[in-house]
Amino acid sequence: MNNPQTLSVEAVVEMKQNGEKIAVLTAYDASMTRHLEAAGVDVILVGDSLGMVVQGHDSTLPVTIDDMIYHCRLVARAREHALLAVDMPYHSYSTVETALANARRLITEGGADMVKLEGADTVLEAIRAIVAEGIPVCGHLGLLPQSIEELGGYKVQGREQAAADKMVADAQALQAAGARMMVLECIPSTLGRRISEAVTIPTIGIGAGPDCDGQVLVLYDLLGLTPGKRPKFSKDFLTEMGKGKGITEAVRAYVEAVKNGTFPAPEHGFQ
Ligand code: KIV
Repeated sequence: MNNPQTLSVEAVVEMKQNGEKIAVLTAYDASMTRHLEAAGVDVILVGDSLGMVVQGHDSTLPVTIDDMIYHCRLVARAREHALLAVDMPYHSYSTVETALANARRLITEGGADMVKLEGADTVLEAIRAIVAEGIPVCGHLGLLPQSIEELGGYKVQGREQAAADKMVADAQALQAAGARMMVLECIPSTLGRRISEAVTIPTIGIGAGPDCDGQVLVLYDLLGLTPGKRPKFSKDFLTEMGKGKGITEAVRAYVEAVKNGTFPAPEHGFQ
């Protein structure tokens, strides 16, 4: 849980109230966490994207709670100031009881400050129970990688009016259930703005436009390590900075670009 040297959940919520953009990045090990800390990242997310970028699977579905605890512990060992959030993996919150038991393990064994769950509706009860336990929760709406089979692939979500209205209502339901932050993934930029205005907790966008309260990227995309076609919403800061610049400088460039609003640019967003 938070110690006095680390950014508290309250401090991150206040950043929204003060109009300060929140820079979030994923990390999965201690060495990369040290670069993120040196560059001033506000929130580190141990994402279940590790299933794809570290473990080599083609989705996040095979990732287990033990995998998440292991990687979270590696990151927690090197974390100094950033708030540390961790994904609850697929099937780790299917019932309220398993959600509570697994959220407790991520905090006590993994060393996280906050747990992230995907979706609304059936997930709200688990969120309420975790929050009642005193564990801060981050929501996740839009493209939900753990529901990729139901969604029929990695596609922009919320383009139709009814789906957009439902997502705004879901965001408000997450806030009412006690979530303190939420990720918005792959939605039109206009919807990213609408949701950010509809809730008082920070929205963290990834392919959700420039008007979210913060931005998150998968670290390996930012460093150009992901083979094949990079997602439209990401940017290879390391290559773009040019030769001789290292990882800390690339991450620092990302933090500055998020803070001064130059990332994401219009070409990183969806209509
Ligand atoms: O798993 C992950 O890395 C995530 C981010 C992309 C938001 O959920």
